[in-house]
Amino acid sequence: MSKQITKAIIPAAGLGTRMLPIARAVPKEMLPIVDRPAISYLVEEAADSGITDILIITGRGKGAMEDYFDYNPEYDAALRAKGRDAMVEEMHAICNRANVTFIRQKEARGLGHAVACARTFVGDDPFAVLYGDDVIFSEVPATRQLMDAYTRYGRCVAGVKPVSAELISRYCSLKAEPIAGSDRDWFVTDMVEKPRPEQVWTNLAILGRVVLSPEIFDILDHTAPGAGGEIQLTDAMRVLAQRDGMTAVDFEGTRFDLGSKLGLMCANVTRAAEHPEIAEEFKQFLREFAKTL
Ligand code: UTP
Repeated sequence: MSKQITKAIIPAAGLGTRMLPIARAVPKEMLPIVDRPAISYLVEEAADSGITDILIITGRGKGAMEDYFDYNPEYDAALRAKGRDAMVEEMHAICNRANVTFIRQKEARGLGHAVACARTFVGDDPFAVLYGDDVIFSEVPATRQLMDAYTRYGRCVAGVKPVSAELISRYCSLKAEPIAGSDRDWFVTDMVEKPRPEQVWTNLAILGRVVLSPEIFDILDHTAPGAGGEIQLTDAMRVLAQRDGMTAVDFEGTRFDLGSKLGLMCANVTRAAEHPEIAEEFKQFLREFAKTL
């Protein structure tokens, strides 16, 4: 019987070079989707999935994330003075969705290195990883979909989506066979980060969510820098996949890469078009705007 998953980590210490110049002053994980930062959607997703403890891996200049999940007595007092107590409760609820803690990755040495910073937090438990700049909108929270697959098959899980042949070289490619009886689950035996064309096995790429067992930490200890000179989580998961196999879940939902300009804009348009306060006026604007394209 697999252990219940209650812990998640959110690596959010990357430099965000694709989002320069703003990333110099605003952590990309704090870039807004309408009125909430990306990291807020991730914490919500984890909490909605049944996660109770979240460790955010942060870095220099990223203190805004800690402030976001803390009470702000000044705002509280100002809002209460205006009779807006409900708004105060809403703000507090954001801080209390889960037990959120922080640790600093002292140097941005790659996603694998960031995950390794969570070793003490994780202990002996399986855990979820939500990549800090990948926001997924779905009916069933994407992390929950992966946790269910972990229970179903008792193996570590990667959330995947098919991507185009041109794009796969930017992600990682999986060696995978469909699992009989499911149209979304795959059995994975190998993977390669940033594959060259001759290394592409499938067009399934890992996008933003994985569920891992603590064995990954010993593997990470021995993982040398890979693509881009960074310690890649994929290189460590590759060892796991080759040794024990992993499950890939083609999760239901739409994923936006908030670490890219295009992803940021698409996420905002999508959310704004359904936001109760602005949807109607925004859609009217879009209709007019579309005529000019
Ligand atoms: P990315 O590779 O998208 O982040 O990592 P990056 O390195 O910041 O991106 P660019 O290429 O420079 O624009 C996915 C997630 O892992 C975190 C990032 O913050 C992001 O949320 N990360 C990455 C770390 O926490 N530490 C690292 O050393 C690298």
